[in-house]
Amino acid sequence: MDQPVAKRITITALQNACREGRKIAMLTCYDATFAAVLEEAGVDVLLVGDSLGNVIQGRSSTLPVTLDDMVYHVRCVERGTHKAFIMADMPFGTFQLSPQETFRNAAHLMAAGAQMIKIEGGRHMTETTGFLASRGIPVCAHIGLTPQSVHQLGGYRVQGKNASEARQLCEDALLLQEAGASLLLMELIPAALGEEITRSLSIPTIGIGAGPACSGQVLVLHDMLGISPGILPRFVRNFMTDANSIQSAVSNYVTAVKSGEFPAHEHVF
Ligand code: KIV
Repeated sequence: MDQPVAKRITITALQNACREGRKIAMLTCYDATFAAVLEEAGVDVLLVGDSLGNVIQGRSSTLPVTLDDMVYHVRCVERGTHKAFIMADMPFGTFQLSPQETFRNAAHLMAAGAQMIKIEGGRHMTETTGFLASRGIPVCAHIGLTPQSVHQLGGYRVQGKNASEARQLCEDALLLQEAGASLLLMELIPAALGEEITRSLSIPTIGIGAGPACSGQVLVLHDMLGISPGILPRFVRNFMTDANSIQSAVSNYVTAVKSGEFPAHEHVF
């Protein structure tokens, strides 16, 4: 007889957590072994991010990551877990042309085991977001610093610092929610703006360098373990510094996010 299967965290559970003021702990993850460690430590959401281009493939940006790469890593993460919610990035070039083509590409990630896909971009992605959401594919919108547009943005810089950029991001967030996004990820924006957007939405927000008011936090796994090459961005805390194992570093991250201790003053803009 089949073993009883633990139920996976659902989008409804994440929305309930947000409504009840319980923070969501999310980390990037790219393989089965880490997926099991992260799940055991209590991470709610595993993001199979296209940051795998940087930390797994050794590229200088996320732009070369392909849909096949993403499908492979989603399958690996899915095999290593039975409870965590799995989100997958739509890589560069797979969602910009039409909602129909995006649906076809997103369907491969969902079939591989993703429960939600993430799309970088603001108001210009509302039509695609609505198209996917109305056809059974939950969408996490990603605004602020969108790494796939690094060349357009002129580098990895804090977004929304002046009034007109901030207003545009607030409007984008509302438009994406109205279009059907189930979650909003905000990257590298001032903490005050992260708070304003979080308050204006009914869907959960996840921050990375977006301040402590977000409904949850995410970091790139290799950054928070202190093994990414180069200097860590200001919004990262190295959780290995005070831990004697990867498992306890990740547990400490979960506790710090859920208690509101991370991000602290020194991690925000
Ligand atoms: O790919 C990724 O790791 C991401 C994070 C920066 C949120 O999108």
